[in-house]
Amino acid sequence: MNQPQNTPRIALVTGAASGIGRAIAERLAIDAHAVVCIVDRDAQGARDAAEHIAGQGGSAHPFCADMADAQAIQAMLGEVRNQVGAPDMVVNCAGVAPTAPVLEHSMSQWQSTLDINVTAPFLIVQQCLADMKRKGWGRIVNIASISGVRAGSGRLAYGTSKAALIALTRQFAVEAAEWGVTVNAVAPGPVETPLIKKMAGGDSTSTYANLVPMNRFGTPDEIAHAVLFLLSEQASYITGETLAVDGGFLASGLFVRNLFEGAPRASGAATDSH
Ligand SMILES: NC(=O)c1ccc[n+]([C@@H]2O[C@H](COP(=O)([O-])OP(=O)(O)OC[C@H]3O[C@@H](n4cnc5c(N)ncnc54)[C@H](O)[C@@H]3O)[C@@H](O)[C@H]2O)c1
Repeated sequence: MNQPQNTPRIALVTGAASGIGRAIAERLAIDAHAVVCIVDRDAQGARDAAEHIAGQGGSAHPFCADMADAQAIQAMLGEVRNQVGAPDMVVNCAGVAPTAPVLEHSMSQWQSTLDINVTAPFLIVQQCLADMKRKGWGRIVNIASISGVRAGSGRLAYGTSKAALIALTRQFAVEAAEWGVTVNAVAPGPVETPLIKKMAGGDSTSTYANLVPMNRFGTPDEIAHAVLFLLSEQASYITGETLAVDGGFLASGLFVRNLFEGAPRASGAATDSH
């Protein structure tokens, strides 16, 4: 299933002008020596990210497209194929996260969240899979969220969209499994990016961190390293999986920080000889 590695892999990363997507694009170009297509609706941000990668000796090409616009996605994929080549690796990272109480979520918020977070990955994966199938090799990672696994305040559209993205990942994975193509998802916990600052606001940043056993936000690079593993040769037998990169958030339930600090031990625990 391995293709000869005399030519660099071509990677397409959406939402790569900022935050997690930008870190993934940088690590792919610099650490994995891929040729990276930086896709974002922020044209200047995409150019800046590509220039930054070039400045570090990597190869990157900026493309501007709005993931809410199916025609713009088709046009972008045509440009990528003509100017760079058919992607061997795809990372769907562009995402939006409107926050509103359930009774106030508007139809437009709902629809645009599903368009950007679910329909765009569907269109991009479906288009790119045909070439991957022909080549007998491909890697796809969708950036989901812990909000796609657990419900959260204000996350009606966002959480639903990320749960759908996890299901979409599994659906593509089972049919692509015999083509040498793996399809996985990464579910980040809170990560220091412009998006989480908008969602969490000032004071709630520490409230969010307190829900994470590691008691801190993740960094974009910590997510990027997990994505790079799933895109690597070494991850060849992993498909349909959703990997939480969340400081222990999804592992926890009745989690109480500092439960045992300063409090007298329960009487039964003192007799435990282990
Ligand atoms: N930051 C977190 O805490 C966190 C946690 C879990 C999941 N995620 C997911 O990670 C992904 C990246 O988030 P981030 O925190 O890096 O956000 P970010 O806001 O820093 O970056 C998102 C990028 O996507 C682009 N984008 C947004 N809508 C787009 C559209 N319609 N078309 C094209 N590009 C568009 C933006 O221009 C931006 O460059 C998202 O899918 C998000 O849901 C983030």
